[in-house]
Amino acid sequence: MRFPLIALSTALLATPAHSFTLPSCTPITSTTSTTLNMASALDELAKLTTLSIDSSDLDEVAKFAKLGCITDATTNPLLVTQAASNGDERYSKMLKDAIMYTKEALGGGDSSLPEPEAELNLAMDKLAVNLGAQLLKLIPGKVSTEVDIRLSYDTNSSVDRARRIISMYEEMGIDKDRVLIKLAGTWEGIQAAKILEEEGVHCNITLVFSFLQAAASAQAGAYLISPFPGRILDWFKSQNGKEGYPPQADPGVLDVQRMYSYFRKYGYKTICMPASWRPSRGAAVEGSAVDEILALAGVDEMTIPPPLLLALSEMDASAVSEQCNAKTSAAMCREPDFVLDEQTYKQYWETDPCGIEKLNQGIDAFKQTTEDLKQVLIQEFN
Ligand SMILES: *[C@@H]1O[C@H](CO)[C@@H](O)[C@H](O)[C@H]1NC(C)=O
Ligand SMILES: *[C@@H]1O[C@H](CO)[C@@H](O)[C@H](O)[C@H]1NC(C)=O
Repeated sequence: MRFPLIALSTALLATPAHSFTLPSCTPITSTTSTTLNMASALDELAKLTTLSIDSSDLDEVAKFAKLGCITDATTNPLLVTQAASNGDERYSKMLKDAIMYTKEALGGGDSSLPEPEAELNLAMDKLAVNLGAQLLKLIPGKVSTEVDIRLSYDTNSSVDRARRIISMYEEMGIDKDRVLIKLAGTWEGIQAAKILEEEGVHCNITLVFSFLQAAASAQAGAYLISPFPGRILDWFKSQNGKEGYPPQADPGVLDVQRMYSYFRKYGYKTICMPASWRPSRGAAVEGSAVDEILALAGVDEMTIPPPLLLALSEMDASAVSEQCNAKTSAAMCREPDFVLDEQTYKQYWETDPCGIEKLNQGIDAFKQTTEDLKQVLIQEFN
């Protein structure tokens, strides 16, 4: 079942909103709002695509959530690490609790680390869950929680860690329906999603840079994928020495359209929720920051950072027209009906240098932050 992402209201962001002392989102639908500019690009976009904000700063999420504007939230290794290093009491409480929990669960109780890796891993997961649980208090929807990025090529261990994450949420009285397990879009990660979805655990396949990853995710029954059109564009720009592309020819946009069309043509329920945006025409062109967003208007859902939401709210509605539509996109899909097995997948994967480079980069970056997080935890254990 699809969770009801409340469309980002428009009223909030339709006003030139550099401060957020704006009317609440919720009453807008029931109020005749003559004073509000109801004709921004953001209003128009929100009619076509469910929008969600990209932030997991507790205060920022609270601010938008109070206005009824966001339903979901996400965590990732970087955000967990930031939480661990943040002096703010709310975060240091989460950290202390994660350490206590680990000491109790793995015995000992003293400050030494008899099984350093196991303890650090547990503390890391518990911290992510604690952060997720706080976010869930602020939002009505789901929170994504990432499986240890170092397990991206190990299906069984990813499944084990995901099950443990779910059970830690359950210990806190949080149902698995409110959690999405985030897995990197490797073959192994996608197969972990397949096992988890069969157990009723919903997954968000992230770091998607290639149609191949999207197709495999849909075939595995993944609940949601997060393709990154902006980073795909980065690769093509640097590969081809280009300053930019017309939005309709932006390789990142074309890839996401291809994924979406394939899902709709073959009846896959997987939600296509792009995140990571760049100016297709190059940063120098005015208004280009939202090029990719506008070129994908109509896709199922989008994660958009606050500055781009504001940019949309200041543009005229006429900037938005439907570019992705389940019916027409399905009709335009050129893909045959096919089923990927591991061997075929890996053969094709080798022919996708953009996918390989960007996926490796994404995984490496999160591995580095995981190392940083380990250091913070070690300090805390001692
Ligand atoms: C899924 O993961 C992506 C990438 O990390 C994130 O931007 C998005 O908000 C997540 N979706 C949900 C519904 O949590
Ligand atoms: C993963 O787990 C399955 C089921 O328990 C088992 O059959 C398989 O051998 C395991 N794979 C690896 C690589 O350990």
